[in-house]
Order: sequence, then C-alpha cells, then structure tokens
Amino acid sequence: MSKQVTLTIDDQEVTVEEGTVIVDAAKSIGINIPVFCYHPKMEPVGMCRMCLVEVGRPVRDRETGEFMRDDEGNIKVEFGKNLETACTVPICEGMVVRGMTEKVKRGREAILEFFLTSHPLDCPICDKGGECSLQELSLHHGLGVSRFPYTKKMHLEKHVPLGDLITLDQERCIQCGRCIRFQKNIVDDPVLEFYHRSRHTEIVSCSNPKFDSYWSGNTTDICPVGALTTNDFRFEARIWEMDQSPSICSHCPVGCNLTIDHRREPKSGRREIQRVMPRQNEWVNEIWICDKGRFAHHFTVDENRLTHPLVRSGDGSLRPATWEKALDRAVEGLRAADGELLTLVGGRLANEDLFHLRYLNDGLGGQVALYSTMAGGDLVAQVGLGKGSNLGDLGEGDAILIAASDLEEEAPLWWLRVKAASERGAALIVANPRKTKTDRYANHQIRYAYGEESETVMDLLGGEGEAARAFAEADNAIVFFGSEGLDYARSRVLAQACANLLIKTGHVGRANNGLVGVWPRANTQGAWDMGFRPHQSLPEVLDGKKALYIAAADPVGDGLVEDISDLFVVVQELFLTETAQQADVVFPAKAVTEKAGTFTSGERRVQRFEPVVPARGDVLEDFAIASKVGELLGLEMPNGSAAAVMEQIAKQNPDYADVTLSGLREVKEQWPIIVPKDYAYIGTAYKNTSGLGMQLSPFSERAKVNPGEASLGRQMPEADLVAVPVTRLYDQGSMIRDLDVLQPRLLDPQVFLSPQDAERKGVQEGEMVDFDLGGRTYRLKLSLQDDIPAGTALVPRSLGVPLEGPAGVDISPAGEDR
Ligand code: SF4
Ligand code: SF4
Ligand code: FES
Repeated sequence: MSKQVTLTIDDQEVTVEEGTVIVDAAKSIGINIPVFCYHPKMEPVGMCRMCLVEVGRPVRDRETGEFMRDDEGNIKVEFGKNLETACTVPICEGMVVRGMTEKVKRGREAILEFFLTSHPLDCPICDKGGECSLQELSLHHGLGVSRFPYTKKMHLEKHVPLGDLITLDQERCIQCGRCIRFQKNIVDDPVLEFYHRSRHTEIVSCSNPKFDSYWSGNTTDICPVGALTTNDFRFEARIWEMDQSPSICSHCPVGCNLTIDHRREPKSGRREIQRVMPRQNEWVNEIWICDKGRFAHHFTVDENRLTHPLVRSGDGSLRPATWEKALDRAVEGLRAADGELLTLVGGRLANEDLFHLRYLNDGLGGQVALYSTMAGGDLVAQVGLGKGSNLGDLGEGDAILIAASDLEEEAPLWWLRVKAASERGAALIVANPRKTKTDRYANHQIRYAYGEESETVMDLLGGEGEAARAFAEADNAIVFFGSEGLDYARSRVLAQACANLLIKTGHVGRANNGLVGVWPRANTQGAWDMGFRPHQSLPEVLDGKKALYIAAADPVGDGLVEDISDLFVVVQELFLTETAQQADVVFPAKAVTEKAGTFTSGERRVQRFEPVVPARGDVLEDFAIASKVGELLGLEMPNGSAAAVMEQIAKQNPDYADVTLSGLREVKEQWPIIVPKDYAYIGTAYKNTSGLGMQLSPFSERAKVNPGEASLGRQMPEADLVAVPVTRLYDQGSMIRDLDVLQPRLLDPQVFLSPQDAERKGVQEGEMVDFDLGGRTYRLKLSLQDDIPAGTALVPRSLGVPLEGPAGVDISPAGEDR
C-alpha cells in the first residue's frame, strides 16, 4: 500500500496518499478549493492562480529530523509569506492548509478581478451560463465590483470556427490551457495551441482539417467558461430548462455511460434531446465520450424514421397500415412458412429485444443468425474479463495485447484507456498488419501479413521473444481482438488463438484478465449471449427458406443479397432500408432513446438504459413487436416491461443469473468526486446516480485450449491486389450517414492504397477509381496511405462495398461510362 500522509485543511484532518495535491486532498473531505486550470484527470500546471491558499509546513529539528513542538506539545508550523497554488503543492505530513483566511480571500478576489478585465460578461447569451465556473466562482469568491474601467475591456473575435464541430469565443477564454492539455495529453491529438502572447493570447487549431480529433466535444465539457461550445448545442437551450436522463451509447461495444439533456420545446410542445454528455463511470468511460457518441443522437429524430407499419399491397407497393393489419399479415406469412424461417438480427438490438426474437423464432421452429462477420462471442463468455475488471487498474507488471484492431476507430474509449494503462507502465503489444494510432504506445509492435493473424498470436505462446515473455509473465493480461482484414472463418480462428493464449498463460477467470471482443455493434456480445451466431454466407443460409424475419439489419443495402422478394419478409426497423423496401411487412421500431433495455458491452458489463423522450409516431420496442407477433401465433412469449424481461433472462440464462435491476442501478463512490454545481473541478460531466451496470462472470471452467481450431489457417486469395475490410469510426452506417452535424467528417466511399501500389496501378491520390470486386465495379475515391502492405487495398466497412473478408480485386482509373 502506498504511503499515507495526514494533514489539516481548514481545521479538518485528512489522510491521503503521498503525492496527492492539496486540491484533491481537500475535495476528499468535501472542501472545494476553487480552480480553473487544474483538472483531476490532468497533470497540474499552476497557470490560473485561482486555487491560492496559505500553506504551513511543520518545522523539523535540523539535527534530529524530528518535528519541533511548542510549549504545549503541538507541532510547530511555519507559514510561508506568500499564498501558494493548492493544485501544484503536494501534501506532506503535518501540513496545515488555510483556505478561508482574509489573505486568501483577498488573493482570490484579485485573481477573479483580473480575469474579468478581459471577459465579455455575456452570461445572458452564453451557453455555459448556469454551469460556468467563472460565474460560479465570481459569485462565491469575487469582489462584486471592479477597479478596472469596463470600457477598457479586451475585445477579441467571437464565433470563431475551431473545427467542424466546435466554435471558439476568443474573448471568453481565460487561457487555462485545459483544452490544449486534454488534446495533447489525454487523447494524443495535439491539434490545439496557444497563439500570440499576454492579453492577445488565443486558442488556435493547428491541424488540417481543423480540430481534427474524435474527442473534440470533451473540451467543451472541461472548458471552465463558455469559450468552447459545440456547434450542435450552442444557442439551443438554457441549462435550467433541461431535464436529464441516463442512457448508454449505442454506437460501439464500449457502452459509454451518457446523460441526455432534453426539454419540452416551447413551440411544438414536444420533448426533444438537446445534447448528450458523458456520465461518470470510472469502470467504463470515466468522464469522457467520443464525438460520435456525443453527436450521433440526431438519427433518432431523422425525418426519415418509420412512424407507422407498412404492408405490401396488391399493386406491389408498400402502404401504411394499422398495427392490427400489419400484425395479421405477418402472422399469416410466418405461418405459411411452416418453420422454413430465418431470423436475422443486428447487434444494435437490446438484450430484451433479442430474447423475444429468439423466443419467437424458436416457437416457429426457425433458424437464427446474427448479422456480423465477427466470431468469438462464445469464447468471450468463457474467458472474457473477470468480474471486477477495470482497465483503469492496469499498469506496471500487466500486459495488453491488441490483435487485428485499429482500436481508436473501432472502440474509441478503449483506445483511450489502453493508452493510459500503457502510460502507467503496462506492456502494450500491438499486432496489426499496418500502423495504427495505438502503435504510438506499443512496447512491442508486431507486423504480420493479412491472413497470418492467428499464427502471430499463437507465436506469442511459448515464444522466446520479448513480447511473448511480457505477456506470459504479466500479473494481469488482457487481449482485445478485432476484425481488421477478417471474414467470419478467420475471425473464429483468431478468437480461438487469443483464448488459447490467455488460457495457457493463466490469464483467465479473474479480474483484469481475459478476452475482449472489439465488436462492430454496441450489443453484439449480448446477441451472442442470447444465442445468436453469425452466418457464414447469407445466400447459403437462406437456401430453402420461405420466410425471413429481420430486425436491425440491412443485408440488401449492404450488398450481401440482392433480391429477397421470393421470400416472405418481415422487417423491424428505424428506417425504410433497402431490405425494408423489399419486405412484405415493415414494423417501425423505437430508437434506443425511446425505450428501456440493456446492452452487454465487450467487457461483458450489462448496462441499463431508460427512455429519454417519448417516441414519435406509432412505433413500438423491438421486443414488444416480437411479443405481439408471437402471441397472435399462439406462442407463449415473455412479457412485461424491459425490467421484467431481464428477470426472465436471468432465470433462463446462467451467464445472466446474477443480473438484477437493483444491481444494474447500483452506484458507488467514484474518484474524481463530482459535486453538483462544482463545475470548476471536473467540468460538466454528470454525476452517475443511475447505475454502473454489472459485469458478468466468465464461465472459465468451460474454457479449453483448442489448438486445432486456432491453427486452421486459410489461404489468402491469390491475386495481384487483395482488398481487406477495415473499420472506421465515421463511416456511412445508417445511424450517421444522414446527419448534418457529422457530415463534414464522414468518409466518402473510398479505398486506401499504398503509394507504390497506386503508382503501379496508374492511379493518384484523391481521384475516382474503378474498383472491381466479384464481377461488379464500384466507383470509389482513392486515398493513399503509407504503411499499407504491398498488394493490399483497405476498404472501410459500411461505405457501400460488400466486402465480407479478403478478396482479389482490381483497381483502375475511373472509366467514362458511369
Ligand atoms: Fe481554457 Fe476554454 Fe480557453 Fe481552452 S478555450 S484555454 S479550456 S478557457
Ligand atoms: Fe459511444 Fe463508443 Fe464513442 Fe463511447 S467510445 S461514446 S460507446 S461510440
Ligand atoms: Fe491552481 Fe489554476 S493554478 S487551479
């Protein structure tokens, strides 16, 4: 245990870990020392001087080193002449801190008075009004009057676009440097800088495109004033008009905890989402979220959302219908299929939805499939992270292996937390065929050729190399496996190789050890747990089927099947996807913000979300739709609220046996402490009062090494150029492709090549090329990237090219016939 130190702050004794700064020691006993530049997640810089306190240090006898005492036996304490910054001064045994003396009061008043000489005081129109540290601290610590003439205030530019998503009001900036330090130190995108000097100092973006980072929204949370605002929220609502609801992000397998602010719109009377903020969960996302999670919520109010059921009419068109009619039609068609049914589900559905769809399918004697090309969810259930895991606990003596994943693109918060673990001393092994941002923190970079991922992981087993030893000898070890360049079969082999490595090195069945799937969707792991498995080939699995029941998947839009019109097709969806356009019955589903349910993250943490706003239109939860269909078919369906359904899941699924509503809602004290109204300390991240979720225990006794499967190598296609699928955060997935707010950031349909291959093919950066795959030609933009292996083309998923795994392709300058 680290050394503990006892000191006194404002007459209260406190014992904290050696090295703690005074601000944090005070916070731990409920004393709020005012700060601007200090942030508990960042190294102190002592720039703003707001945290001034009087510091007294015990006097030691120079000869004996013992504390000197006065006549009454009290330790003698000597106070310095000057005030000191409580954010930079580490505590020491016997220290005495005074934060409420007249001297301190005058010091703080002077600092605030000085800040306000260059501040516009436009609180009435400032988005930070009501949750602004400068407002709050001026109220509690300010002088109330100024000796400086108002007319001499410094005026700087307002509404400066700092990037596509963030606007800077220069005259509101108090130059605390939090935004710069966050970008540099927390997320390693050093795209912001100070420019000019003294009162002319400005924040500027030094990247092209400007403020090029997936994390920019966090700077608006930690900016202590209204200098940084999101374009999405600025001038939309005042803080006090909004209500808060807890939610879980539905865009990747991390499962970041969110607080969603919403208000009743004055004109329409409708309750609408205004902004999405992080909700503190130090086991999952700490106090951060990525920009996709923050801004992509607009899909829920997209004007193209389905608002009522549709049924195919006699003339072949889809027509609006009542629920009664649509349900009758679905029941009729499903009955006629007589068990020749495939139920295909996407990983964005909640556990409760999946549980019902499984019931419905099984009742009809059909086959289920998960719409995913990634394997290994069953292995994660066996050797996934042990209960009580927290990436924040990993450090020196531990190891993390990232295999076949561009982690920041696929699961941004995991990237951030793995980076932090590496900075704390964990050995980071990155195995990928090309360089990714994670490489910056790798102690061991392993480059393999696409197709050799499982052999590479197996080589770590019993290998003599440093990386193998670092993993085998680690106190705790975690493997993240992704799907870079993989199809289902290769993914299966890789997952088994990773599981073998963990089992053989004894890194299973306990906290901070195990396997994590970097899944393509928020609840892909939940879908595996509810008994769904990916199909190897959709056309094959559809062979002989008469009916197809699809929820939250668009295989036609993704180009994996072309024509499903000879099947009876029922679709549950948010939008009229290309698959839905071919359906006989389309049921409109509620979005995640309109319903309750649970997701199971890649770390196998079950987390609950609640309805935030009422649904628009005549829509139902996916589970309620399946339930209605099942009941009309005479099946015994699980029923009740989402919470009641989770009780049934817990009864029937041993993996979920311990999951209870009260457990999901449990909260514990977290550090840093979030105190309502103390925006200065941590920013506007929200306190978590609605639950930290429950991590499932892996069934490690079921786990066994399977060397055969792990070495079942598959040949790569023999071709001059092989295309492999990769994942990018801002793709053209149906949840984000139509969002105005993210539009400038979304990738165009494109292919990435090395400069050498581009030259060989006679194509150039930025031009349109013809991409020939499986007899079809796609017109794509060409982007060049160093470090792509020779003979390989990278094709981001969800950009309109149906690439389920490595495939031979050709690329040529765009022809003129398109
Ligand atoms: Fe601080 Fe905000 Fe200015 Fe950045 S923009 S330096 S966070 S006040
Ligand atoms: Fe959502 Fe993933 Fe971003 Fe977290 S990291 S906010 S879960 S997309
Ligand atoms: Fe301590 Fe800024 S100097 S908070």
